[in-house]
Amino acid sequence: MRENEMIFLIEPMEEKDLEQVVAIERLCFGDRWSVNAFRNELENATGSYFVGKEGEKVVGFAGYWLILEEAHITTIAVHPDFRGRHYGERLLLKLIEDAMSKGAKWMTLEVRVSNKEAQGLYGKYGFQSLGRRKGYYQDNGEDALVMWTENLWQPEYRRRLEALIAKIEEA
Ligand SMILES: CC(C)(COP(=O)(O)OP(=O)(O)OC[C@H]1O[C@@H](n2cnc3c(N)ncnc32)[C@H](O)[C@@H]1OP(=O)(O)O)[C@@H](O)C(=O)NCCC(=O)NCCS
Repeated sequence: MRENEMIFLIEPMEEKDLEQVVAIERLCFGDRWSVNAFRNELENATGSYFVGKEGEKVVGFAGYWLILEEAHITTIAVHPDFRGRHYGERLLLKLIEDAMSKGAKWMTLEVRVSNKEAQGLYGKYGFQSLGRRKGYYQDNGEDALVMWTENLWQPEYRRRLEALIAKIEEA
C-alpha cells in the first residue's frame, strides 16, 4: 500500500452516498445520471449498485442489472484522482462475484470504441468484443463495442478469476 493510501472498502450504494456518487459521475461522464436517476436505480429490483470508499469518501462506484442469467453492467467509474490503484478492478470483481451469487451466467456491457482504459480493464476480466452498436452514444455519435464474458461458471473462467483475485490480494 502506498503512503497515505487508506483502506479501500466496497459497500452497497445507499441514499447517503448519492451526492458523492453524482460528483464522480459528473467528472467521469458529464451530465449523464442525476441523483434521481441513481435513486431510481437503487429502487430497481433488477439493479445492484456498490460504492468503493476510502474511509467515508466515495472514490468509485459500479452497478449492473440482472436480467435472467445475464448481468448487464450499467456503470463503473473511479474518481480521476484515485485511478490506477486497482479500485476499478475491485469494483468490477465485486459485480462479477455478486452477479454469480445471484445466478448470472454471463456478463455484458457497452463501451465507447475510444475508451481504451475501460476496455483494458474488461479485457483483463475476459470480456471480448462480440458486436458493435453504430452511433450508440448520442453526445458525439460514437459507436459502442458490445462486450461479453464467456460462461462465468466454466472452469477456465473460474481459474482466471481465482488467479486475478490472488494477485489483487497479494497487492
Ligand atoms: C475504467 C476505470 C473504471 C478504471 O479504473 P481504475 O481504478 O483506474 O483501473 P484499475 O487500476 O483497477 O486498473 C485495472 C486494469 O484496467 C486496465 N487499465 C486501467 N487503466 C488503464 C489505462 N490507462 N490504459 C489501459 N488499460 C488500463 C488495466 O488492464 C489494469 O490492470 P493492470 O494495472 O494490471 O494493467 C476508470 O478509468 C474510469 O473511471 N474511467 C472513466 C469512467 C469510464 O469510462 N467507465 C467505463 C464506462 S464503460
